[in-house]
Amino acid sequence: MAFTLPPLPYAANALEPHISQRTLEFHHGKHHDAYVKKLNELIEGKPYAKLSLEDIILQAAPKREDRAIFNNAAQVWNHSFFWNCMQPNGGGEPRGDIAKRLRESFGTHGDFRRTFTEAAVGQFGSGWAWLVLKNGKVDIVTTPDAFNPLVAGDAPLLTCDVWEHAYYLDYQNRRQAFVEAFLDHLVNWDFVSKQLIEAETRSAREAPARAAAGRR
Ligand code: FE2
Repeated sequence: MAFTLPPLPYAANALEPHISQRTLEFHHGKHHDAYVKKLNELIEGKPYAKLSLEDIILQAAPKREDRAIFNNAAQVWNHSFFWNCMQPNGGGEPRGDIAKRLRESFGTHGDFRRTFTEAAVGQFGSGWAWLVLKNGKVDIVTTPDAFNPLVAGDAPLLTCDVWEHAYYLDYQNRRQAFVEAFLDHLVNWDFVSKQLIEAETRSAREAPARAAAGRR
């Protein structure tokens, strides 16, 4: 069963003026679509074709000879996740448990905003900035190129695409302005909260198995 390009969860002009319709149409309709098509081409007739996207990422990650499969699978996953991390009239300070967890890890919302922005701007070249659940705490990491935190065993909660194709038409070289617009106006905190709940539920379910493995 070939992978398909998931539709955007909102209209292509819904994130204006922070991300233009032109950017979203290129980013989703051309870049994301190209990763889906290339992935299907690369896995056709191989055992990978029977796996879920997550399993392709995890199995291909350590194999040098499957780097193209890994890159395209991870970029398909990362982009689908990124679209869901945004919504019109989003961003700003979250409420509820996620707000408490951000405070525990980073301090005030301003501290979180500064730390995330510095990480995203500091990622040299193409890549992604992430909020993850790492060893039971929320943390910020960046990854180069197609890499994503699943490979390191961290649970992604939020991501910002900092490849130039994500912002160049709207912001040219001003990556910081794009990241600030993302944080202040676009983040879908309900989606992030849901990722946190799911990651903690998964972690609690897997804890007995991990403990048993450790005793052997
Ligand atoms: Fe992208």
